[in-house]
Amino acid sequence: MNHDIVEKNVGIMIILIIVALSFGTLVELVPLIMSKDSHEPIAGLKPLPALQLEGRDIYIREGCNNCHSQMIRPLRAETERYGHYSVTGELVYNHPHLWGSKRTGPDLARVGERYSDDWHRAHLYNPRDVVPESNMPSFPWLFDNVLDGENTGNKMAALRKVGVPYTDEDIAGAGAAVEGKKEIDAMVAYLQNLGLLLKSRR
Ligand code: HEC
Repeated sequence: MNHDIVEKNVGIMIILIIVALSFGTLVELVPLIMSKDSHEPIAGLKPLPALQLEGRDIYIREGCNNCHSQMIRPLRAETERYGHYSVTGELVYNHPHLWGSKRTGPDLARVGERYSDDWHRAHLYNPRDVVPESNMPSFPWLFDNVLDGENTGNKMAALRKVGVPYTDEDIAGAGAAVEGKKEIDAMVAYLQNLGLLLKSRR
């Protein structure tokens, strides 16, 4: 029996597995690479302003992405809860991407404008003050740490190298735009603008 030959010969088995996996990979990747939609920014997409860019870096520094995904799957249960599923065109300027798959807390891809700024501030200071059963950690130091803006322009320049369309003006003004602001201001600005472009469409 042919199947016997495959099961008893590890060499053939390895080759056939590679063929099967490559085929699966191609089926997933080729349409994505060919489709214009997947790398064209959606209408209205702009690079993050300086303060939000700093907020995103703090988000990464604090490991928020270890508990929160930013990737709404195209499934009814997800779109009912979080809003329009995530599309590649709204994420083309995200370097590194923060899709994640671990959801200790809710997905945050469209958390923008879901709560007030004050809610976020209270929640980040001590989540239990607003959600009594929460096991999210507190981040009180965000209220003390002040941004100096020294590297904000450099970060934009680096992102421009990988295709994020920051202008010379953006880069020149970046430091001044964040200098003296608290880290909490940057974090809330970032959160409040997450996913707004496709928010109302379901
Ligand atoms: C150890 C896991 C963990 C980490 C780390 C974490 N969170 Fe959470 N987060 C949660 C859980 C659990 C909830 C749900 C309970 C609540 O609302 O507090 C939550 C809720 C939230 C919500 C409300 C979402 C909604 O739709 O109701 C926001 C916003 C949020 N987190 C932001 C952050 C930010 C910003 C950071 C990093 C500074 C962070 N989280 C870090 C676990 C975490």
